[in-house]
Amino acid sequence: MRIDVLTVFPEMIRHALGISIVGRAREQGLLTAEAVDLRAFAFDRHRTTDDAPYGGGPGMVMRPEPVFAAVDSVVAGSSQIASEGRDIILLTPQGQVFNQRLAAELAVREHLILICGRYEGFDERIRDHLPTRELSIGDYVLTGGELPALVVIDAVARLIPGVLGSDESAEDDSHTSGVLEYPHYTRPPVFRDWPVPDVLLSGNHALIRRWRRERSLERTLARRPDLLDSCPLTEDDRVFLVSIGATRFAPAKPATRERSRRAARAP
Ligand code: ADE
Repeated sequence: MRIDVLTVFPEMIRHALGISIVGRAREQGLLTAEAVDLRAFAFDRHRTTDDAPYGGGPGMVMRPEPVFAAVDSVVAGSSQIASEGRDIILLTPQGQVFNQRLAAELAVREHLILICGRYEGFDERIRDHLPTRELSIGDYVLTGGELPALVVIDAVARLIPGVLGSDESAEDDSHTSGVLEYPHYTRPPVFRDWPVPDVLLSGNHALIRRWRRERSLERTLARRPDLLDSCPLTEDDRVFLVSIGATRFAPAKPATRERSRRAARAP
């Protein structure tokens, strides 16, 4: 995968791209990721990328010319990638809220161009004519799109096959399976009188699997009950959820279904 980040603060991106798992993925050739300086595409000698808004009002607006020129240059430099393999993404608080499902969608693309806004916002012609998507990383406003771009890169990169080592697998991640992750423990077995749960030391892998699933469900119910409505639940999951008081997850009884069908048919 190739990622280009268009920004007026390329050093902010370059530094982060050299570190940790993303840095290692780049070294291993699993990921090409570069920061592109939007100022290099400004057309005036002051390298201006912003200007005052027409109609007045506070703040400055990102001019369209440097952004379009930078995208054209990056696309021309990656002409071996068909346009269907490419996403041009605007990072803005007005975008679709980024989540694990979107990370997985982006992880199979060939080329991501991430455009970081600054100032009060983008000239609307950028929004109208460039991006294939607009993404937000949450309902709060940051000073620019650089941190959001790094968030997206981090979440996407770790899903590229080979980027995580086998002991760093993404399969059990919170949100990948639709529920929050179960609690983890490591040595020592007792720390300040707080012991590791016995089951984890039992060596009984079936029991451990069940314990972890139940802790995941319990935690998801307590912290993010909304997730349980859209994640696949087994019959055992439902029985467990009911046993801890979440009766709305009771497995539907055939008799109940028949009764509700009859009720639906009633005039
Ligand atoms: N730029 C400023 N705030 C942002 C946010 N929450 N998400 C994406 N881009 C942004």
